Amino acid sequence: MFEVLLKVIWVLLPAYTPNNFAVILGGFKPMDFGRKFLDGRRILGDGKTFSGFFGGILGGILTANLQRVIEIQTGVKILSALPYNEFFCLTLAFSFGSMLGDAAGSFVKRRFGFERGRSFPLVDQLSFLLFALAFASLTRAFWKLFGITEIAIAIVITPLLHLFVNLLAFKLKLKEVPW
Ligand code: CTP
Ligand code: MG
Repeated sequence: MFEVLLKVIWVLLPAYTPNNFAVILGGFKPMDFGRKFLDGRRILGDGKTFSGFFGGILGGILTANLQRVIEIQTGVKILSALPYNEFFCLTLAFSFGSMLGDAAGSFVKRRFGFERGRSFPLVDQLSFLLFALAFASLTRAFWKLFGITEIAIAIVITPLLHLFVNLLAFKLKLKEVPW
């Protein structure tokens, strides 16, 4: 069971890391070009920028390739067991889906009147994951690594993992707030 948990987290790293890269590389050119939706609120808000979006995707691709190198060095065979083209499709689906889902989450938050940066539990932690899983499910590689059990585990542990990592970052004084 513990091994399945670790595998799920490992496989999902290329879906988890794009947002961290977006935080670092973001800030240039809001993706909604500053425009407002029919409700008079921003379409996405200043928290979604092109540099963050594409930087995040590249970050996810970088992460996955590093993981593959680590696996080959240590003899682990999860991502490295896949043919490279299949592995790359999966990686792209995870990183692109993750950033698209993140933007979709912001769209929903703005429609509910939540200002940029305000926390909206579950939307913040699951929108990116559901999109990442949806895109990944279209690839052959995904079903070699994941079944229904792994998908269920992913959906349950992701919000918990999010909570735990943020709490840790807060305790280490890397973040101002514990969420
Ligand atoms: N970011 C970005 N472009 C993206 C995603 C994220 O530039 N496509 C950067 C922004 O600087 C953003 C930060 O990463 O503030 C954190 O991302 P996130 O928490 O998703 O955005 P929020 O600022 O919280 O905005 P929202 O309320 O829309 O989620
Ligand atoms: Mg946020």
